[in-house]
Amino acid sequence: MTARILDGNVLSARVRGEIAERAAVLAAEGVQPCLAVVLVGDDPASAVYVRNKVAACDKAGIRSLRYDFPRDVAADEVMARIAALNEDPAVHGILVQLPLPPQFDEAAVLEAIRVDKDVDGFHAENVGRLSQGQQAFIPCTPHGVMKMLEAEGVPVQGAEAVVIGRSNIVGKPMAMLLINAGATVTVCNSKTRNLAAHTRRADILVAAVGRPRFVKADMIKPGAVVIDVGINRLTDGPDAGKLCGDVDFAAAKEVAGIITPVPGGVGPMTITMLLANTVESAARAAQARSQ
Ligand code: GUN
Repeated sequence: MTARILDGNVLSARVRGEIAERAAVLAAEGVQPCLAVVLVGDDPASAVYVRNKVAACDKAGIRSLRYDFPRDVAADEVMARIAALNEDPAVHGILVQLPLPPQFDEAAVLEAIRVDKDVDGFHAENVGRLSQGQQAFIPCTPHGVMKMLEAEGVPVQGAEAVVIGRSNIVGKPMAMLLINAGATVTVCNSKTRNLAAHTRRADILVAAVGRPRFVKADMIKPGAVVIDVGINRLTDGPDAGKLCGDVDFAAAKEVAGIITPVPGGVGPMTITMLLANTVESAARAAQARSQ
C-alpha cells in the first residue's frame, strides 16, 4: 500500500485564506492584527524561520514588527523591549524566537510575555491551561498537527497515539492535545528502550525527535497516520544539503496509510497557526474594547 500524502501547503493555503478574511474584518473595525517578532543572534535557521513568519503575516494582512538584537545583547535590553510590547495596545502577539543565547534565562523570557499576547503558547500559564483543557494559546506546531488530523478526518478519540520527542515546543504539548482529544498517548524519546515495540502499536505516530530519517518503515504499523515534525538538513551522503524529516519517508510511505512530507507537511501549518493565534488575540482585544 502506498500512503496518501498529506500536503501541508494545500491545507495551509485554505486556512490562511480564512485567516486573512478575519484579519480584514478586524482591520475594517479599526483593529489591525499585529505580531511583534524578536530575534536574538544570527542563527541561520532562526533567521529563515523569522523571515518566513514575517512574510506570512504580510500576505495575510497582519502587521508585523521585527526586533533584531546582536548575539551578545544584555538580557535586560530584550526584557525591556518585551515590557514595552506588553504595554502597546496595538500589538496583539509577541514571539521571541528560540533558542536564545546562553546569557538568557529562557523560561524567564517566556514568562515575561503577557499571557494574552503569548501567541506561541509557551508561557507557563498557557501551558497549564492547555493541560487542564481550558482555553489557551496552543503552541503552533502541535496545533497545526491537530488541524491536519481534523482536516483528514482522522479519528483521534480512542486511537493509540505515540509521540517521539518530549520538547516543550512540540512533544509535550502534542501529547497534551492528543490526550485532550481522547487518544491513548505514549510519549517516547530517542533513548526509549525497545522504541519500535511502542511505535508499531501507533494508529497515529508523531515524530518530533530531531534526527534525520530516525523512524524506519519497520517501526510503523501498516495503515498508520505518520506525522513528521522533523526538519533536518542532511550533511552527508547523496542527498547532502537537502532537507529531510525524522521519518525515512521513501520507505515509510509504502507502509503508512497517511503521511506528511518534509518539506511541505507540518512546516507550513506551524506558521499558519501562528497567524491564527495572532488574529484570535486581536479579535479578543477588539471584543474587550467594545465592552
Ligand atoms: N524555535 C523553534 N520553533 C519555534 C517556535 O515555534 N516558536 C519560537 N518562538 N521559537 C521556535
